[in-house]
Amino acid sequence: MTPPRSATIAPEATEIPLDLASEILRLKESLHAVILAHYYQESEIQDLADFVGDSLELSRKAASTDADVIVFAGVHFMAETAKILSPDKTVLLPDLAAGCSLAEGCPAPIFQRFREEHPDHVVISYINCSADVKALSDIICTSSNAEKIIRQIPPGQPIIFAPDRNLGAYLVRKTGRDMLLWQGSCIVHETFSERKLLELRSLYPAAELIAHPECEEVVLRQAGFIGSTSALLRHVQEHSATEFIIATEAGIIHQMQKACPGKLFIPAPPEESCACNQCPYMKLNTMEKLYRCMKRRSPEITLDPDLIRKARAPIRRMLEMS
Ligand code: 13P
Ligand code: SF4
Repeated sequence: MTPPRSATIAPEATEIPLDLASEILRLKESLHAVILAHYYQESEIQDLADFVGDSLELSRKAASTDADVIVFAGVHFMAETAKILSPDKTVLLPDLAAGCSLAEGCPAPIFQRFREEHPDHVVISYINCSADVKALSDIICTSSNAEKIIRQIPPGQPIIFAPDRNLGAYLVRKTGRDMLLWQGSCIVHETFSERKLLELRSLYPAAELIAHPECEEVVLRQAGFIGSTSALLRHVQEHSATEFIIATEAGIIHQMQKACPGKLFIPAPPEESCACNQCPYMKLNTMEKLYRCMKRRSPEITLDPDLIRKARAPIRRMLEMS
């Protein structure tokens, strides 16, 4: 995989203060900003954010905040969703190249043709897609609410599910609905090795394997619990086990350790000897870039008002149905 390249290293680099965290908090006050962070951000960013959450919780926060500026420590589709839900606010993303393999694997013009080939289908799209693909969808979902939304679609109504084939296949098994799946995937959640997982489980026989539904079926089949990042975090707090193998992006382990300091969290091993269980897009955001984007009020997410209107309807539908 070619790692994503930063889009924002400007030649006249802003001077970086020594106490970055204090400077970021000072800028936050002066901008009347809120900092929203996803669980896959580096620990320092999570600790500084006003709110850390999964995709659904972050969308809700973006829709309800009274701040003037939303600083989104996450990836591009998340910041776009914030702009769609709060179009009058300034939305900043520390690095515009913070994309997502799912969003990139579903180009809007090709998706539009696919949709037109199946005019009788309702289109449910995972929130990990571009604003253009959202505008071509009937309902958006996240891994927290996808099952609930699919169960509300009348039986017999054909469904297209895009863009994640692994989450889609999991939902087909869970709900019994035969959905037409777009063949996209997450490079991070497809990295886990079935063989290495079996070896790890024999080293930690008491550990429970928990997994995100973006993982492949061979991994999900072994899991004792499957859920969104927030559901995984809740599970380790509520479950009596003291050892867990975590099959999702390793950033979530920071919050797990904070919530349960006495428990052991072991990241699921990737196939190669690499750090592939860390999302290279999420990790493009750094404390330095967070500081710089707040200082310069750039890069900013801007979207065409007509696109905002079209993409907002399926997101609003999701919020109503979940
Ligand atoms: P959730 O945090 O909504 O479970 O999403 C996981 C993910 O891969 C985000 O890109
Ligand atoms: Fe996209 Fe996967 Fe990274 Fe999430 S972890 S942003 S789904 S590439």
